[in-house]
Amino acid sequence: MFGNIKAGAILLLGISISVFGQAQKAVYLDDTKPLTERVEDALSRMTVQEKVAMCHAQSKFSSAGVPRLGIPDFWTTDGPHGIRPEVLWDEWSQAGWTNDSCIAFPALTCLAASWNKDMALVYGNSIGEEARYRNKNVLLGPGVNIYRSPLNGRNFEYMGEDPYLTSKMVVPYIKGVQQNGVAACVKHFALNNQETDRNGVNVIVDDRALYEIYLPAFKAAVQEGQTWSIMGSYNLYKGQHCCHNEYLLKDILRREWGFEGVVIADWGGVSNTREAIFNGLDIEFGTWTDGLKKGTSNAYDNYYLAKPYLDLIKKGEVGTKELDEKVRHILRLTFLTTMNRNKPFGSFGTQEHALAGREIAEEGIVLLKNKNNVLPIDLTKTKRIAVIGENAIKMMTVGGGSSSLKAKYEISPLDGLKKRVGSQVEIVYARGYVGDASGSYNGVVTGQDLSEKRSADELLAEACSVAKTADYVIFVGGLNKSENQDSESADRRSLNLPYNQDKLIDELSKINKNLVFVNISGNAVAMPWVNKVPAIIQGWFLGTEAGNALAEVLVGDVNPSGKLPFSFPVKLEDNAAHALGEFPGSNHQVKYNEGIFVGYRWHDKQNIKPLFSFGHGLSYTTFEYGKVTADKKEMASSDKITFTVNIKNNGNRKGSEVVQLYISDLKSSLPRPVKELKGFEKVSLNPGETKTVSFTVDSSALSFFDAHKHAWVAEPGDFDAIIGASSTDIKSKVGFKLN
Ligand code: BGC
Repeated sequence: MFGNIKAGAILLLGISISVFGQAQKAVYLDDTKPLTERVEDALSRMTVQEKVAMCHAQSKFSSAGVPRLGIPDFWTTDGPHGIRPEVLWDEWSQAGWTNDSCIAFPALTCLAASWNKDMALVYGNSIGEEARYRNKNVLLGPGVNIYRSPLNGRNFEYMGEDPYLTSKMVVPYIKGVQQNGVAACVKHFALNNQETDRNGVNVIVDDRALYEIYLPAFKAAVQEGQTWSIMGSYNLYKGQHCCHNEYLLKDILRREWGFEGVVIADWGGVSNTREAIFNGLDIEFGTWTDGLKKGTSNAYDNYYLAKPYLDLIKKGEVGTKELDEKVRHILRLTFLTTMNRNKPFGSFGTQEHALAGREIAEEGIVLLKNKNNVLPIDLTKTKRIAVIGENAIKMMTVGGGSSSLKAKYEISPLDGLKKRVGSQVEIVYARGYVGDASGSYNGVVTGQDLSEKRSADELLAEACSVAKTADYVIFVGGLNKSENQDSESADRRSLNLPYNQDKLIDELSKINKNLVFVNISGNAVAMPWVNKVPAIIQGWFLGTEAGNALAEVLVGDVNPSGKLPFSFPVKLEDNAAHALGEFPGSNHQVKYNEGIFVGYRWHDKQNIKPLFSFGHGLSYTTFEYGKVTADKKEMASSDKITFTVNIKNNGNRKGSEVVQLYISDLKSSLPRPVKELKGFEKVSLNPGETKTVSFTVDSSALSFFDAHKHAWVAEPGDFDAIIGASSTDIKSKVGFKLN
């Protein structure tokens, strides 16, 4: 008895114990010891109460550590485009700090549009440094849900419609974040492809589409990116909420992929204690909680994984095996982040980060159309530029839901252009239309007064009059971050531009032939006037340096090199989900009846010409592609095959081109897409320069997911390797055989 008390006392005291006068660290504090030993040691020192306390939130964005053992709390932050400002302990409103204004990076759609893996690393590292400086150990991002419909309000936070592109971009982002001792939290796992009924909708999808389209980016994040955490999504799959979904979390994530990190529930995504205990979730956040009303304060003890969990353990109704497993994951993440003494210190709101964001923006802006080389603007021949449209002045970093930011600064398109042209050219501005005059989110205010007394006709008349006397008209419009636009919690209602912009553009096209439309959005929009407007730019949400980056592209300081990460359909019915009447579903159910035929896979299959194709993007120079060759005509399933193509800049300006490799299975026992992206490389070329681009793939690039065998299968037969400048601008192809 006495001996036990003594042993306990030593254990309690014993964070460092002196043996024969020599200080000996507790194993969990000794970072020379293997991670698993440290985890087991810490676990063995914890009480059941302490363990349960770790498995649920204690404030809006934090969960408890173990104060007694010096194990720090978790501090999470949104994500994914910048570090969210501090909110109060138990409220969403601002804490009112004055030192939390961040650099806003371009939205992830823009990053994806860069098709540049180096940019993804720069992005991840920069935002990771910002998170680290702010003492956050979990960054709630990146988002990798697939773009299934252009109406999804959150598409701007994701990386487009293609699983290969998304997979390749997510891995360096994660590595960049985590090299700062901050965990990435890849979200939202899985099948969260709409905001309508997001907490109640059950997704019905076949296994093949699940594995080929919706899971690859998550798998790459886990296995190649080694992400330390992942966020469960709100929706249901197989009738079970994804935050505690047995099939997704236990069978696939843990068992098939071997994930050892932390599964974090999306805020308010937990609804069942037993499922949360047994189905692989680790930490519950944001519940408006069980039996309590939505938004009730200080409800943390009532969380599904709080007192109800402890009670079940105390009553002996559940054991502690699952609890230990959860705490192991949490401790592991803690040792890799807050308790990693070798991590860097980070930096925040720096010019370096702003410039990184600007470079990503420059690489991601897409030149969609440039008839008669209207762009770039030749400033030496230009006296007056008319800038029209609300998005030329509206701050876009505030709004849109959880990704909303308090940016250190944000350069508007109008200010960016003004600054760039200086006194060389006169710039006149007309608003043209009123969209969203509000400017606040959870207490962060833009400070812009966008109230407007004039009528729509008056605004139109003013726009037309400034357009008449200008050499160029730059119309900066598109969507914004208000509800039913590009924003969380709701979807868009239509593919069309809002606020009567179509009419305005139509009128402007009659007045000035040098009309440029800059679409600020994270989504495709319909462009019924497309043939009347010579130049179109996809401008995304570009963050802090938005206006500077856009100005550089407009005047040609930067040669655009972005390519679309998703298809622009002409009309909504050209998109598979809408063609089949399955968006957003009904009666809490949505059927992904299009299966694997998402995005360009559908356009190809149905032979529907998109307005702008996946992978499309022009440059101010032109590129000449050589003929693709293969290093062998036949390959065994264990072989690799290399395709090589020359590309030449045959214009007179330096530029970058994204060379895309698609693979086509010519005959197969199952229906397959006409072609699928399996490689891409962005190459920078001086005028007249030629480079050789090679892609080496193995048989996994030829395979499909066989749901019956529950395995990836590469069927012997004939294939084509196709080189394209987009999914529809095919340059050449070469056949080969898999034996
Ligand atoms: C969003 C997540 C976000 C979380 C915390 C949820 O509503 O779906 O993406 O990270 O809130 O703000």
